[in-house]
Amino acid sequence: MKFIVTGGAGFIGGNFVHYMVEKYPQDQIINLDALTYAGNLETLQPVEGKTNYKFIKGDITDRDFIFGLFEKEKPDVIVNFAAESHVDRSITDPDIFVRTNVMGTTTLLDACKAHGIQRYHQVSTDEVYGDLPLDRPDLFFTEETPLHTSSPYSSSKASADLFVMAYHRTFGIPVSISRCSNNYGPYQFPEKLIPLMISRALADEALPVYGNGANVRDWLHVYDHCQAIDLIIRKGSDGCIYNIGGHNEHSNLEVVKTILQALGKPDSLIKYVKDRPGHDMRYAIDPAKLERDLGWEPVYNFQTGIRQTIQWYLDNREWWEHIISGEYSHYFEKMYKGRV
Ligand code: NAD
Ligand code: TYD
Repeated sequence: MKFIVTGGAGFIGGNFVHYMVEKYPQDQIINLDALTYAGNLETLQPVEGKTNYKFIKGDITDRDFIFGLFEKEKPDVIVNFAAESHVDRSITDPDIFVRTNVMGTTTLLDACKAHGIQRYHQVSTDEVYGDLPLDRPDLFFTEETPLHTSSPYSSSKASADLFVMAYHRTFGIPVSISRCSNNYGPYQFPEKLIPLMISRALADEALPVYGNGANVRDWLHVYDHCQAIDLIIRKGSDGCIYNIGGHNEHSNLEVVKTILQALGKPDSLIKYVKDRPGHDMRYAIDPAKLERDLGWEPVYNFQTGIRQTIQWYLDNREWWEHIISGEYSHYFEKMYKGRV
């Protein structure tokens, strides 16, 4: 089978490309990425040169380019990770979120409609459900929870989900959607909570905790997310939505203190800063459908996963130091000049 994985130079897409290239040597994996600030080809070094892998630089909102690519490559499966993914950026610049997350998705769906595919998979988020109160630990997001978004980011992701389902019903495109909780693990861009705190703690810099740090996120290791998507693409039903999460709820303060403790740094580095506007209180996934229907179970619990992740950032300082210094953005020119 031939896969186009969009956004494969980002955090989760990059981990998914590694996973697929290693696990399915007989399949072809095309990584399509625009290389925005969040795309980093240094993440793909372990798979470069593999015969079942190829990188193509391109924008999912570029209709002519996308149609041409589908015509040329005739992919069987599309997995759409490409997105603007940071809530804080969506608050300062919502337009790009509409363009990439909504219009990029409809462009891909139109190309699927024109060329015919076996499956279009949309990588979505639990943030489309809004948030849950802290004093109701009995409540979880199910696939039936109404969409109720808070941020421009989550609104753009919910809109994309609605288009995906509309193309399924109206045009019969075979689709699936997964809605995962917060991911952590190797290769996450250091603007997100966990890598930001690790890199700053290592430099003895203040760790900015929004509000009082009581907001709860349901953390899933990126490997478990990749496994779930693989299962859904191969065994999930057409037109189905699956929630992905492993019941690993922690407050931001707990996460930050865990990182400080693991690095032997003092809690005095914590600095409480002005809260994010519209800040969601709690996310918590009920993954029962995925477990029951597809037999998925996560490999990692948070304690093991966070320890390994911290160790990965210690062992791969160059990867994130290049990002912080801006060096990573020159990689494409260096490696691909004259090749694409
Ligand atoms: P990321 O920001 O690390 O990576 C996004 C990638 O998309 C980058 O490589 C970027 O260059 C690429 N991209 C952006 N605009 C593009 C465009 N117009 N055309 C082609 N490529 C483009 O994001 P991530 O954290 O890896 O998230 C991937 C997906 O998973 C997103 O759709 C996100 O909504 C979803 N998701 C993320 C999380 C999480 O915790 N990070 C949780 C659930 C769902
Ligand atoms: P983030 O990694 O941005 O993911 P999301 O907002 O999509 O859940 O943030 C995770 C949590 O950490 C969220 O409640 C906001 C909080 N946060 C901080 O307290 N300080 C920070 O510097 C960042 C980036 C996030």
